Amino acid sequence: MIKVGNLTKIYKSPVKGKNFLTDLFNRQYKETKAVDNISFEIGENELVGLIGPNGAGKTTTLKMLSGILYPSSGNVNILGFNPFEKNYKFLEKISFVMGQRNQLIWDLPAVETFYLNKEIYNVSEARFKKAVGDLTEILRAKDLLTKPVKTLSLGERMKMELIAGLIHNPKIIFFDEPTIGLDIFSQEVIRDFIKQYHKEFKATIILTSHYMEDVKRLAKRLIVINKGKILYDGLLKEIVEKYSQEKQVVVTLEKEVDAKTLSLVGKPLSYTFPKVIYKFNRSRIPEKINLINKLLPYIDLTIDEEPIEEIIKTLFRE
Ligand SMILES: Nc1ncnc2c1ncn2[C@@H]1O[C@H](COP(=O)(O)OP(=O)(O)OP(=O)(O)O)[C@@H](O)[C@H]1O
Ligand SMILES: [Mg+2]
Repeated sequence: MIKVGNLTKIYKSPVKGKNFLTDLFNRQYKETKAVDNISFEIGENELVGLIGPNGAGKTTTLKMLSGILYPSSGNVNILGFNPFEKNYKFLEKISFVMGQRNQLIWDLPAVETFYLNKEIYNVSEARFKKAVGDLTEILRAKDLLTKPVKTLSLGERMKMELIAGLIHNPKIIFFDEPTIGLDIFSQEVIRDFIKQYHKEFKATIILTSHYMEDVKRLAKRLIVINKGKILYDGLLKEIVEKYSQEKQVVVTLEKEVDAKTLSLVGKPLSYTFPKVIYKFNRSRIPEKINLINKLLPYIDLTIDEEPIEEIIKTLFRE
């Protein structure tokens, strides 16, 4: 469905010198390798999380996949199309939704942008009605349609952005930080929406986000990039198995226990009655649970994976 081979993007930006005349005749350029020889394939109906720190090359990658940017080298094949040819049949099938930039017309109600997109993509009246109806329904956003965009809150605007990007029922969607800047409730709404859209319309989705919660909840597969290079490409659960040697054991005590008894089990990561948290190597969990059963009076005990944020940090450290 999506095939990317040795894709590279080098940005050239002029360096400002001291003298504008020498600048003019002897312009110096600074090169930034934003994307450095990456390759991957994504199959139909996959939802892949593309993550990495600021400046890693995520947006640049998505821009090349959607045909906005021309690559310096390498190739992209999406449904048999080369995105840079901007074939109408290709544009019809994709959508690029960015959390930070909007396509909505500021002074008019969002529904006007929807009508515009309806014309651009040649969507029939019936299909348009159904799409807007369904999407506003899922997002509970009927009463927002007719308000001028400039009067909407950030979260409300993002809902309208999503609808605008999906009117033409694209098969492939690139979401670039769709939840950025939103409160946790709105993040949840957007997340649920993406999940539902993915399922209902069998869409193929690449999603970038700085919120690990988005990735955890939505993507089975992760592509991790840093400085334009792919550090990891695989299932989320495999990253956890590969990079996390430890698990957290959280014990809720029945009554206070002295530090010495607690340390017979192992050195606690933290202790504030009633919760004591230990971190143990995976392989030692059974033996430690045995010890806890013997030594500690508890009312609850849970074994948790290390938070994914920590695991990703480990990955970057290596
Ligand atoms: N138009 C441009 N001209 C020159 N350099 C650019 C341009 N756009 C991006 N860059 C540089 O390319 C690199 C990758 O940028 P990109 O926006 O793809 O990163 P990102 O992973 O999306 O980061 P973020 O998480 O901050 O959105 C950065 O070093 C950035 O400064
Ligand atoms: Mg970006």
